[in-house]
Amino acid sequence: MPSASTPTDPARTPHNSMVPARTPHNPTVAEPQDGRQADSHRHHDRPNWYRVVEPGIRAVEARLHQALVDPRLGDPIGKVALHLIEAGGKRIRPALVLLAAGACRDDLDDVAVPIACAAELIHSASLLHDDVLDEGDRRRGRPTSRIVWNNSFSVLSGDYCLALALSEVASTGHIEAVLSLNRTVTSMVNAEAIQIRSRDELDLSRAAYFEVIQGKTASLMAWCSSLGGLPADPETRILETFGLELGTAFQVTDDLLDYFADPDELGKNLGKDLSEGKVTLPLIEAIEEKPELRDAVAHLTELPEQDALIEARSVMQAVTRTGAIDRTRQVAIGHADKAAASLADLPASTFRDALVDLAHFAAQRAY
Ligand code: FPP
Ligand code: MG
Repeated sequence: MPSASTPTDPARTPHNSMVPARTPHNPTVAEPQDGRQADSHRHHDRPNWYRVVEPGIRAVEARLHQALVDPRLGDPIGKVALHLIEAGGKRIRPALVLLAAGACRDDLDDVAVPIACAAELIHSASLLHDDVLDEGDRRRGRPTSRIVWNNSFSVLSGDYCLALALSEVASTGHIEAVLSLNRTVTSMVNAEAIQIRSRDELDLSRAAYFEVIQGKTASLMAWCSSLGGLPADPETRILETFGLELGTAFQVTDDLLDYFADPDELGKNLGKDLSEGKVTLPLIEAIEEKPELRDAVAHLTELPEQDALIEARSVMQAVTRTGAIDRTRQVAIGHADKAAASLADLPASTFRDALVDLAHFAAQRAY
């Protein structure tokens, strides 16, 4: 596993072969073609923050499984979601809900589990849709659901996960949590729209980049850590700030790993952002340091995506040589430190310590 300070050189980590996507115009295929045999995700030991709330996470997983194998659900909607959910995942969002509930008060169990289920469902819905938008072909070491089935079933399964999430939150009886989830999903949708409109925008500002990642990632983490705004007391504000900073650290790291990671460790292909014209912090940092790189990147945006993916490798190496990866890692660490510091006024507990661990994990991770 590459450490945070000495990541694997992408020149030595070949891209995994690309599987051509079936088009959304082929909606007749209801059974997976290649999903089961292709797991290549390396096993990771569960970190400390996970172990603190492991029984709660297992309860969330069992509840999601139960809901998605419901025989009343049209085939293959449940299977499509389970293909993603049961491939693993770090479970950061449900852990965040459960840890925040523990750190905040001891009477929140009845709301924490449904809110944690909703968090994982919203995340799953957004990934099912995101892989259609980004033409993602590999996630969590597996071909994405849209490759195994097709775009149509991925979109529908994401829609269903969203509906299930809303009923989980409604089951708490707290209308404020439903409304705050509504605002969160709106931020996610708006951020994705900005990102799509900014494709190939090589002069994207840092401010615009941070606006996108706060909307698409940090807003949901803030919803999780504030337990959907429940209960409305001073701890909720503290935990919301924590989630925003944690989410920012997490997405900055995600963007860094697209340039510089071991793809088997990460469970995704590298170089997608660059080949798609998605401008993220490593590229902003690199062009700032070496403006000549802009022309090489502009050339990539003119190529068909498959060719761009091949040519992207040399640009990724050039980006890395500017020191942009290390600087980006420092930005992520800065946000993780802010997240950890924001918890100073919460009472000391195992849960608070685990939240601090989680913040550091978000910025230091290699997967
Ligand atoms: C992954 O980002 C995607 C997100 C963090 C959010 C996607 C949000 C939407 C599609 C809108 C909200 C939709 C619903 C149903 C709630 P990425 O593409 O940078 O990361 P990746 O490399 O893992 O694909
Ligand atoms: Mg994506």
